[in-house]
Amino acid sequence: MAVFGVPTLEDLGPVAGKNVLVRVDFNVPLKDGVITDDLRIRAALPTLQWLQQQGAARVVACSHLGRPKGKPDAAYSMDPVRAHLAAVAPGVELLENLRFDAGEEGNDPGFVDRLVEGFDLYVNDAFGASHRAHASIVGPPARGLPSAAGRLLAREIEVLLGVREHPDRPFVAILGGSKVSDKLGVIEALLDVCDTLIIGGAMCFTFFRAMGRSTGSSLVEPDQIDVCKALLAKAGDRLVLPEDITAMGPGGKLFDPAAGGEVRQTGRALPEGWMGCDIGPGAAAAFGDIIGEARMVLWNGPMGAFEDDRFAAGTRSVAEAVASCRGFTVVGGGDSAAAVAQFGLDDRIDHVSTGGGASLELIEQGDLPGLEALRVAVNA
Ligand code: 3PG
Repeated sequence: MAVFGVPTLEDLGPVAGKNVLVRVDFNVPLKDGVITDDLRIRAALPTLQWLQQQGAARVVACSHLGRPKGKPDAAYSMDPVRAHLAAVAPGVELLENLRFDAGEEGNDPGFVDRLVEGFDLYVNDAFGASHRAHASIVGPPARGLPSAAGRLLAREIEVLLGVREHPDRPFVAILGGSKVSDKLGVIEALLDVCDTLIIGGAMCFTFFRAMGRSTGSSLVEPDQIDVCKALLAKAGDRLVLPEDITAMGPGGKLFDPAAGGEVRQTGRALPEGWMGCDIGPGAAAAFGDIIGEARMVLWNGPMGAFEDDRFAAGTRSVAEAVASCRGFTVVGGGDSAAAVAQFGLDDRIDHVSTGGGASLELIEQGDLPGLEALRVAVNA
């Protein structure tokens, strides 16, 4: 059955004996050739296994990995991913990194022709890449291959568009991260639908400046100050900012405690030379109270530099509050998904998205190029 107009696996027609091309997002983090988080691979297994169980002749996965510049580059080889996949999904093939050919990002018709040659069906299970109008995302349905969203993609659409279109109330959104400019569209979209928007992370310092506060040496985007003023005026008390901040004094360095520098709490006015690195304990408690009352929560972006232990407390408190919330909880991909995994709380979240940019874009725009492509497939 289609989700939000997008055909799903059952809409493919008979699969037995067919060659199926599956676009997955196996853009996984690697350190020295070792996969450090295989969430994206595990998340695609239900689709790959379903296709095998239906008797597909060949199930061939394809993905990008990193950002090679349109030509082969050993540093971005799919070999480590292929080895991992062979262990968890025996029999599934994996093509080489799609971005080794400039035709992938350029959505080149010749590249699409080569990609789909020999395939009967196409499945998109690459939620994390569905905001890219790249050849492997939009090309196969347009070439006339019967096409569908895989299980992972269908679930992401159902949850994220469900949150956007029919939220349970109170609906609390929490945004963090460093730049207002990166999240402006999503802030505006969320203010249209949520009851409370909590903003933490370095983004809040541009808001503090819009409120006339001093921000010391915290990260501020001067060209976004007027935008923040307008957002504060529009949102009123629906937009909640931290009342206190954990800041690092002069001489301190992020991720390098040995460099020294004092760490202490401040209010919303930061002294000269001090850099805000996390929300303070008062803000963490206040945010926790709001999250505890929510019937639906969407969280994207850490509250501070959580990879540095000195500044992990705010993000950890928010993660714990989201995990304990009795409402439906959704964590956007990227850094916030990494944070809940680091704190061992991922099992207590209703939905951890596999897409960073894609989840933000879907919340902001209500659609993605990859979904539009599937909606006009021959079998849709
Ligand atoms: C991601 O990791 O967000 C996706 O795989 C997309 O990668 P990209 O930003 O390089 O297109």
